[in-house]
Amino acid sequence: MPAKNNYNSIAFCYDRLSSLVFGNSIRQSQICLLPFITPGNEILIVGGGSGWILEEISKLHTSGLHIVYIEASSKMLELAKAKDIAENKVDFLNSYIEAYHTTSTFDIIITAFLFDNFNEKTASENFDKLNTLLKEEGKWLFTDFQISSRSSFYQQQLLKLMYIFFKHASNIEANQLVDMRFFFLKNGFKEVFSEYYYKKFIKSGCWVKLND
Ligand SMILES: C[S@@+](CC[C@H](N)C(=O)[O-])C[C@H]1O[C@@H](n2cnc3c(N)ncnc32)[C@H](O)[C@@H]1O
Repeated sequence: MPAKNNYNSIAFCYDRLSSLVFGNSIRQSQICLLPFITPGNEILIVGGGSGWILEEISKLHTSGLHIVYIEASSKMLELAKAKDIAENKVDFLNSYIEAYHTTSTFDIIITAFLFDNFNEKTASENFDKLNTLLKEEGKWLFTDFQISSRSSFYQQQLLKLMYIFFKHASNIEANQLVDMRFFFLKNGFKEVFSEYYYKKFIKSGCWVKLND
C-alpha cells in the first residue's frame, strides 16, 4: 500500500491520463488564474504534481518570482525539477504540507486538485494551515472538482470511478469531495473571479483574504 495521498506510482503517466479524460480542461482551469500573479510575488504551490504549472507561470513572469513548491510525491518532484523556470527562484520540497513549517508568508497560494484527496478533517486542518501562511490581501488560486445534486449522472459516476482508481493507485484518504467554499467563506475570503470547465465539473476561483 503506498503512503497516503501519494502519487509516486502514477507520476510517470498522470498528466497523460488526466488529459486523456479531461482534454485540456485540467490545464486551462489553472492557467486562467495565473494573471492574478504580479511581479515579485512570493508564491506557495502545494501538490503541484509534475510541475508543468511552473513553466506556464514562467512564461508570464520570466524573473523575480520566488516560489516554494511542496510535493508529497518524490517522483512528481523530480519531474518538476526538470521544468523550465526561466530566471525565477524555486525551492523544491519533497514533503506533505502537514509537515511544512516556516515563518514565511506568501502573496499567492496555489492548490489545484489537492483538496479532493483529503477527508473533512485533513481538509480543515490543511485549510487552516495554508490560511496562516497567506498574507492579508493575499490570493489563493484554488481549482478542483465540484459536484452537486444537479450534476449530470455522467459526472457523478466519473467522480465515483476516480475515487476508486486513486484509492488503489495513490491511497487517497477521501471518498467524496469536501465543500471548500464553506471554509473560504467562514474565514472571511472573497471570491473575486471564478471560471468553470468540463461542463461545470471543474471550478477555478481566485479567493482574496480580507483584513480581519
Ligand atoms: C491530483 S494531483 C494534482 C497535480 C497538479 N496540481 C495538477 O493539477 O496536475 C495531487 C498532487 O498532490 C500531491 N499531494 C497530495 N497530498 C499532498 C499533501 N498533503 N502535501 C503535498 N502534496 C500532496 C500528490 O502527490 C499529487 O502530486
